[in-house]
Amino acid sequence: MAAIHEIAPDVYRISIYASWANLQFNHFLIKDDEPLLFHTGLRGMFSEVRDAVTRLISLPDLRHISFSHFESDECGSLNEWLAIAPSADVVCSQVGALVCVNDFIGRPARALADGETLTTGKYRFRYCQTPHLPHGWDAGVLFEETQKTLLCSDLFHQTGDVEPLTQSDVVGRSHQAMREYQAGILAEYVPYTPLTSQNLRKLADLQPKTLAIMHGSSFNGDSARALTELDQAVKEVFGRQHA
Ligand SMILES: [Fe+2]
Ligand SMILES: [Fe+2]
Repeated sequence: MAAIHEIAPDVYRISIYASWANLQFNHFLIKDDEPLLFHTGLRGMFSEVRDAVTRLISLPDLRHISFSHFESDECGSLNEWLAIAPSADVVCSQVGALVCVNDFIGRPARALADGETLTTGKYRFRYCQTPHLPHGWDAGVLFEETQKTLLCSDLFHQTGDVEPLTQSDVVGRSHQAMREYQAGILAEYVPYTPLTSQNLRKLADLQPKTLAIMHGSSFNGDSARALTELDQAVKEVFGRQHA
């Protein structure tokens, strides 16, 4: 059964550990007047994630489904979710809507421009376009401005079945995981592009308090510093191989 922990006010982390990947898959449900789910999860995990969300809200009340980029763990069960929450809109980037999502769901997604906001009641989400970070030209993240929670997708990914929330060295753990990936077929996990540092600086400037991380522990602490250090770690691991 998925594990549920509240990592920030009304932000619930729904976590499933997959031993085949030695990785947690985390989905975030934000409870508000208009509940929002960030990451639908893999299609193969749909029933587990759905059952967890049912413990938090009434499913037909789900109003927004969002994710970073078009990939199975981000949005593989999107159509299954729309079948049980038909009044939900799908919030993604303009590129994502155009090249993947509109066709995938058979109707227009709610495509947000960089900096555009979405209010769900007492919480307000800012869309931050981050092309090719963590990967995919459609990539972006959501920043909840009132509690300063950054829903940051694959950034800071850590391997293993770790604790829900940490205040310790999240960059060190992620750096180690990136090095591990470098040795195998995931060696190009994060493309190091001319936009990488710029994107990470943009996120650091938001001064987040909490990082809601898709794979691994969420982080509470000096997240601006963590993002700055992540920039160095990503450069060291993924920048060097093309130097
Ligand atoms: Fe991804
Ligand atoms: Fe992922």
